[in-house]
Amino acid sequence: MNDVHVAGVGMTAFGASPERTARDLFAQAAGEAFDDAALEPDAVEELFYGNFMGEFAEVQGHQGPLMAEAAGVSGPSTRIESACASSGVAVRHGVNQVRSGQADVVLVGGAERMKNISTAEGTKALSAAADALWEIKAGVTFPGAYSLMANSYFDEFGGTREDLAHIAVKNHSNAVENDLAQFQMAIDIDDVLEAPTVSSPFGLYDCSPMSDGASAAVLVSEEFAEANGLDTSVAITGVGQGSDSLALQDRVSIPETPAAVEAGETAYEDAGITPEDVDVAEVHDCFTIAEVLALESLGFYEPGEAITAAREGETTIDGELPVNLSGGLKAKGHPVGATGGAQISEMTKLLRGDHVNSDAVSDATVGLTHNAGGTVASCVVHVLEVVE
Ligand code: COA
Repeated sequence: MNDVHVAGVGMTAFGASPERTARDLFAQAAGEAFDDAALEPDAVEELFYGNFMGEFAEVQGHQGPLMAEAAGVSGPSTRIESACASSGVAVRHGVNQVRSGQADVVLVGGAERMKNISTAEGTKALSAAADALWEIKAGVTFPGAYSLMANSYFDEFGGTREDLAHIAVKNHSNAVENDLAQFQMAIDIDDVLEAPTVSSPFGLYDCSPMSDGASAAVLVSEEFAEANGLDTSVAITGVGQGSDSLALQDRVSIPETPAAVEAGETAYEDAGITPEDVDVAEVHDCFTIAEVLALESLGFYEPGEAITAAREGETTIDGELPVNLSGGLKAKGHPVGATGGAQISEMTKLLRGDHVNSDAVSDATVGLTHNAGGTVASCVVHVLEVVE
């Protein structure tokens, strides 16, 4: 099995890009990844690209070949849809393609446009990631579904809105210096608690926003990197993916995410590490409660114990396990099809030392990314390690 190195990464600034198409955004992210890798697009043998709602937002399907053309690459091109985990799953397929020896160089990533449609239309489009028969017909939206998970968590394990507010404050603070983030503004606990309610217990600052954006990474085999003198100091050493019932009603326990447990355990075993070895993590905080569920499912905390992690300073930038140094989905933004690839981009830079927040984790050698689809009916985890 070939070792997989990250040769280059790129991503657009997340936010509103009303004048730009998804193909334009992806072309920029891919171009930055090629420049970062010091490779020309024609080195790429295959593209795995994530997108969730292109048919709805841009009336554009068949995005594999479209995005290959936009990026200037040829060869097989596959669009992957796994809701908000679309590009994380695309990365996993790219990793496996290089590991298996089918390709030495792959382009992975994704793009999404959400700001060119109204919040109501975006909410409707996102709800397609829920169960059409049982959840959407009952009026479930994603803020609604995750608020059910939060209230169920409070019932089962305890916790308060204020505990969740500390997660929003932490992630906004991490994004202040990140030029790629949608919200580069600090907020305080009162801002969170006094914000308009979206779906109880969530206010505005408990939610990730609607965003436009794209992400890309060039993955290469170790052999190719050595043969071509590429400067690749980060490898993807662990990959895992899990699934769960699509509808919340079919879950054994609503405030737990077994798809993430499965993805995490598989990735740890694959990399030959344990949760204790992880120095820094980017997790899928689409709503504040989602960060809690992620940290527990990944084995950093027992069920019921991550709710106070941000409040206690354990996951802050100077904490024992800094989480979402990019600002997370909460503040960096969440163009859903681009998010998993963006986590790889941010984590690679954090570990290489060229991220604005790298100094906070200058000794870090192991990073983890956790990217979830829907109410974590799908989840993909990657372990990245420094391999100088
Ligand atoms: N966090 C912080 N500020 C936000 C924000 C968020 N999540 N969403 C919007 N804002 C800000 C905007 O920047 C704007 O600020 P301004 O007035 O200073 O310019 C203001 O709030 C209003 O923005 P608008 O776009 O009109 O908000 P909205 O009320 O239409 O939508 C939400 C707000 C939270 C309902 C929407 O962002 C949302 O649905 N988020 C969840 C997305 C989601 O479900 N993703 C999938 C996860 S699984």
